[in-house]
Amino acid sequence: MAAKKTKKKKLIVGNWKMNPTSATEARRIFNAIKARTRTLSSIITVICPPFVFAGIIKPSSKIEVGTQDIYFEERGSYTGEVSVPMITSLGLSYVIIGHSERRKMGETDEVVARKAKTALDGGLKTIVCVGENTRDPQGDYLEFLKNQIKNSLIKVQKKDVADLIIAYEPVWAIGATEAMTPRDIHETSIYIKKIIADMFNAEEAFKVPILYGGAVNFRNARDIITLGEVDGLLIGRESLNPPGFIEILKTIDLI
Ligand code: PGA
Repeated sequence: MAAKKTKKKKLIVGNWKMNPTSATEARRIFNAIKARTRTLSSIITVICPPFVFAGIIKPSSKIEVGTQDIYFEERGSYTGEVSVPMITSLGLSYVIIGHSERRKMGETDEVVARKAKTALDGGLKTIVCVGENTRDPQGDYLEFLKNQIKNSLIKVQKKDVADLIIAYEPVWAIGATEAMTPRDIHETSIYIKKIIADMFNAEEAFKVPILYGGAVNFRNARDIITLGEVDGLLIGRESLNPPGFIEILKTIDLI
């Protein structure tokens, strides 16, 4: 009984990206998922819709709502941007920072670092995305990953590590048909923890949840969590498909 109580909950985050195209559809997808989260006990579910839908879908004690980005200033002349106080004023508590699709649009490690710091300062649970574009046989990707993590977290202070979450998303697996193998996920998550341990300290590093993202579905989710030994998942396509996403939630809840 006691062991069950101390079991760390898995974090399952849905990233809707620039979908769906209407508020009606956003409510329909969210409510279908929400209805099935009531009975779950071992997971925290977070849905990150586009900003315009963040205020119109209603979280519960079993399903939270986050956003896919924030800007690093609080207010002012920054056309098109959304700030942390705006998000927290809606009662939202999670944000994704530095997704590879934003990095592809020109977001540098430096911008990611500023956004991560601003989000953490504002009290948001901050999911910083990292991941290599390709895996070369010589292993240069390890150096790439190390630099990306260090540069993206350079402004994070020790006191803020409790709200930090890392999403490891190998770019080549995002939107692909196959996820990375659980064995490689496990190896990489250990490598990431080691980098974080070097930056902060081992005890802090151990507490930072590592999520995996990239082609997760209900068939591979269990192995990724149990064999890959990660603390959760960041899910794109399947988070827009209630039956598939619910299946993932139910599977992970049973672990
Ligand atoms: P995918 O996307 O699950 O559709 O591969 C993952 C992500 O980009 O976060």
